[in-house]
Amino acid sequence: MTAVLAALAVVDRARETELLEAALASGAHVVLEGPPGTGKTTLLRRVAAGRDRSFALVEGNAELTPARLVGHFDPALVLSRGYQPDVFVDGPLLTAMREGGLLYVEELNRVPEETLNTLLTVMSEREIVVPRLGTVRAAPGFAVVAAMNPYDAVGTARVSSAVYDRTCRIAMGYQSAEAEAQILAQRAPVPSDDWRDRAVALVRATREHPELRVGSSVRGTIDLAGIGHQLARARGVAEGDWQAGLDAALVALSGRVRVDESSTRTPEEIIAELYAEHFGPAPSDEAGDPGEEPRPGEA
Ligand SMILES: Nc1ncnc2c1ncn2[C@@H]1O[C@H](COP(=O)(O)OP(=O)(O)OP(=O)(O)O)[C@@H](O)[C@H]1O
Ligand SMILES: [Mg+2]
Repeated sequence: MTAVLAALAVVDRARETELLEAALASGAHVVLEGPPGTGKTTLLRRVAAGRDRSFALVEGNAELTPARLVGHFDPALVLSRGYQPDVFVDGPLLTAMREGGLLYVEELNRVPEETLNTLLTVMSEREIVVPRLGTVRAAPGFAVVAAMNPYDAVGTARVSSAVYDRTCRIAMGYQSAEAEAQILAQRAPVPSDDWRDRAVALVRATREHPELRVGSSVRGTIDLAGIGHQLARARGVAEGDWQAGLDAALVALSGRVRVDESSTRTPEEIIAELYAEHFGPAPSDEAGDPGEEPRPGEA
């Protein structure tokens, strides 16, 4: 149990936790809305772990058909026994309804129309009519919690009004710099506090950069530190080595950021520039550039 709780350790988010717990306790359905990597799943897992009820997670994508969500009659058993209730295999929605549990739908805006309609009906009626099975009512405690990324263009407009009218919304913004530093220290080896703070600042800068339409979440910071650590070991150089850090930043961040259409630069060029801004110029440039800021560990 301790190990499970430790794995779920949530940094900060006391306010969001309190709001989510209150909303669920009141019987409301909730949408957690925020950019990728802002801790929506992490937060919900913590709240779910404290509730002592079942918790089912489904991924919103084209494969989430109503039958996958609700359940289906086992075809082989139907042949031998007919449409008996015990031949029905509950899907995650029915399981959550019967047990008064939580159904967590990731990427709600990507759920296919037909499945979404099923879900919307359950959210407002708290019951569902399943052909040949009958009506299933939700036990107390049942709630749908959905996660949505506000910048995800796929289907966001289609979903919004019907969903928002049946749910309460908790906005999840990016974590504070302090929280990100703490998350990083929890998740990846860092050479020093100074290196950690520079890495956090570098990744946060991708979210503000005028040439980047989308920046990286804390997931990029975690990978930057992890890859930098492995590269330093593989190359037999010191932890926090400048070149290993740059290579790690390029691998960890270049695919996570999106360059704005108006920019002519590549993601690699922008990441390399941000890296030099936060970790100083390349060591070989140093002799010809005496006025630069000291690099980490040199101050
Ligand atoms: N407040 C937090 N405390 C601890 N870890 C966190 C926190 N926020 C984010 N993380 C870490 O950052 C990563 C992303 O978090 P999480 O998966 O919860 O984000 P998300 O909002 O669900 O993202 P997505 O929208 O992509 O599903 C995970 O590795 C998680 O451990
Ligand atoms: Mg998530």
